[in-house]
Amino acid sequence: MIRDMAISRMLMDFPYLPSPIQVVDAALELAEAKANEVLVDLGSGDGTVLLRAAEKFGVFSIGFELDERLIRIAMKRIKEAGLNQMIDIVKADLFQIDVSRFRLIYVYPFPSITRRLSLKLLNECRRGARIIVHDYPLEGVSPLKSTSIPSGRQHVHKIFLYIL
Ligand SMILES: C[S@@+](CC[C@H](N)C(=O)[O-])C[C@H]1O[C@@H](n2cnc3c(N)ncnc32)[C@H](O)[C@@H]1O
Repeated sequence: MIRDMAISRMLMDFPYLPSPIQVVDAALELAEAKANEVLVDLGSGDGTVLLRAAEKFGVFSIGFELDERLIRIAMKRIKEAGLNQMIDIVKADLFQIDVSRFRLIYVYPFPSITRRLSLKLLNECRRGARIIVHDYPLEGVSPLKSTSIPSGRQHVHKIFLYIL
């Protein structure tokens, strides 16, 4: 019987899956996120990363997300947490936005977009930008740091930090 969500996700053509809180914490610590920085989550889902970044790290957070249902869920969570002043979500295709203005980027990509995403980030991001990638590393570049976070099940989450 398959219990691990990551494996079932693979078998189900990668439906939405949020980053666990301990993964978000480890990612933001690895990137040394500081209060009042701006974090962008490319494909922000239900807002888990945005909320944690704002709540625990005092980071202003912007999410780009295509799925309106997930945006509604995230907006509700943000409102309930009273974090409207710290978080914004934009309905947009991450491949259509200009990422060159962002200095701290988080992404938990579907493996099917890793190559295209890598090309975009490496071409557009400015020198010094920090890119945090969950589970599926960028192609064509080596991470500066990485860490593993056991899920308590079979899957071990991986975080890769790139500094361009
Ligand atoms: C694995 S989930 C990660 C969600 C969130 N970043 C987290 O870590 O909790 C990937 C998200 O990316 C969104 N997504 C996929 N392709 C996208 C695109 N081209 N533009 C914007 N969002 C996209 C999906 O709808 C989904 O919410």
